[in-house]
Amino acid sequence: MKQEKPVVIYGGSFDPPHKGHIALASQALRRLRPRALFFVPGFHTPFKDARPVPFGDRLGLLKEALRGSALAGRPEVGISSFEARRRRVVYTYETVAYFKKRYPRSRLYLLIGSDCLAAFKSWKRWPGILRGAVLLAGRRPGFTLKTKEKVPFLPLEGTFPRAASSDLRGRLFLGERPAEMQRGVRALIEKKGLYLSRERALLKKRLSARRYRHSLETARLALELAPGLGIPPQKAALAGLLHDCARELAPRRLRSLALKARTPGMLYRAAAGEAPVLLHAWAGAAAARAVFGVDDREVLEAIALHATGAPGMGALSRLVYVCDLAEEGREFREAGLVRELARRDFGAALRAANYVKLSHAFSCGGWVHPLSVSLWNSLQEK
Ligand SMILES: [Fe+2]
Ligand SMILES: [Fe+2]
Repeated sequence: MKQEKPVVIYGGSFDPPHKGHIALASQALRRLRPRALFFVPGFHTPFKDARPVPFGDRLGLLKEALRGSALAGRPEVGISSFEARRRRVVYTYETVAYFKKRYPRSRLYLLIGSDCLAAFKSWKRWPGILRGAVLLAGRRPGFTLKTKEKVPFLPLEGTFPRAASSDLRGRLFLGERPAEMQRGVRALIEKKGLYLSRERALLKKRLSARRYRHSLETARLALELAPGLGIPPQKAALAGLLHDCARELAPRRLRSLALKARTPGMLYRAAAGEAPVLLHAWAGAAAARAVFGVDDREVLEAIALHATGAPGMGALSRLVYVCDLAEEGREFREAGLVRELARRDFGAALRAANYVKLSHAFSCGGWVHPLSVSLWNSLQEK
């Protein structure tokens, strides 16, 4: 059978697409001069987000990334809907088999970043992938092309812009405009309200500049600590951003919203009478649901409990409780100490945050919510 020019496939979630993806594909084109290079976006993204970016939107971003790049108008470059059409998780071996069948006379190359190379042997049916395709790996800064596992691959010369989608997602959640992404892609993200830009825009309208900054900083610290606690970054960012979304509402509105939250242990009457400011936490959970459309229970719990804490609260609630107190913009000395502690020993930081809040309440001589006291007692038992 006469051999034809090669075909390159480049799979991924492209969540979001960035200049590193484009650079890798461009280098593959230069090196192999293939008859076709396909970006193959996966239907599902592997990240456990409260709000994953839907396939249609990721596809739109990828098209925009191609349109704004040197690959625009190249007839051999395309986007394949193979994985999307299946509307499920598609394994790479299936994608390779499909393209092998479609282009029986071409050598198939699977383009991957060198960060994937180290984990390649954990991929489902990886020997089958190697039988069907040659791995084509570009070096990402910080990742070597040498693997202990001795996976055969063809290296691409040069290194590619330092961009990792996970890092970019975190920065997008906080409203940054990463230079590693094309301007058109960033504009489309904002237009469509993706990567929490819709939530941030709404929040900005509801809060003073100072409180908005505090919310961003709470989200920033939550994002930093989340991976070490096994918490999906997007959930951490969303809960951190929205925790004070009801903080500046008028008292009447606060009371009516707090009653809607129906959180167990809220002690509405006591809180409303003795420390009405606490109501903003439960009201915040109700507003997050009604105004921001949040239906993730962990996120709602984290907002509802951020002011008092509660024994047995979940990991995300513990995270937001600590970050609210310890974020970078807090000016009291203990905030910095708790922040440093959280980076080394999160359990100790939680106890310290609870201690700081309780001692502040005692020093003011006021009423202390029983949930905060119960949290203290529960933490001493451990
Ligand atoms: Fe608050
Ligand atoms: Fe706060």
